[in-house]
Amino acid sequence: MSAAHAGPVCRMATSADRVGILEVHQRAFGRDEERLLVESLLADPSAQPLLSVVAELQGELLGHALFTAVTVLNGGAPTGASILAPLAVVPSAQGSGVGRGLIETGCRILAERGVALVFVLGDPGYYARVGFVPALPHGLKAPYVIEPAAAWQVRALDGHVLGAVRGVVRCADALAPEHYWRE
Ligand SMILES: CC(C)(COP(=O)(O)OP(=O)(O)OC[C@H]1O[C@@H](n2cnc3c(N)ncnc32)[C@H](O)[C@@H]1OP(=O)(O)O)[C@@H](O)C(=O)NCCC(=O)NCCS
Repeated sequence: MSAAHAGPVCRMATSADRVGILEVHQRAFGRDEERLLVESLLADPSAQPLLSVVAELQGELLGHALFTAVTVLNGGAPTGASILAPLAVVPSAQGSGVGRGLIETGCRILAERGVALVFVLGDPGYYARVGFVPALPHGLKAPYVIEPAAAWQVRALDGHVLGAVRGVVRCADALAPEHYWRE
């Protein structure tokens, strides 16, 4: 059977993908910042457990999503959760479902690991299409005040968790500087 019409495959990254992943961010964002953030997060013990997902087509990486550990400090026991940052699709592959595929694959794997919440800071015009809702109305606060507030979003992987867990998110050290939290 021919694979000529097969689309990209989303899978967990391996160490062999490292250079390709960094290139994806450089090409998607057209600057160094996100590539450097990925390098920092991959080396940051406080980002663990993390999940790195790539989209590959015929040996070429078209996209990458990095999910790193966060906790929700709610005054009681911290709840394990994850944050998606950064997400990138190379310009030639944008708008063809690669970003969606990366998010769905990542959320499926995280749900299997027992992660209940995935946060993201980004354009609600995009993330609302892929399962995210504004987090603040659910009592889930970012480490900093976010402007506009609607950019701080969450996706529940467990049907009972929204509303049951409230508090402030604490992220990995590499993601903690305030400049990463401006939209
Ligand atoms: C943002 C980005 C990750 C989206 O990935 P993508 O593969 O282009 O997105 P998809 O094709 O999976 O799009 C999913 C849906 O969102 C829509 N969409 C795509 N980009 C959008 C945007 N910027 N704003 C609003 N909707 C958008 C698509 O039309 C699609 O909708 P549909 O399913 O109703 O047709 C990608 O365009 C990118 O890497 N951009 C540059 C880097 C960046 O800004 N990253 C985001 C950091 S928060």
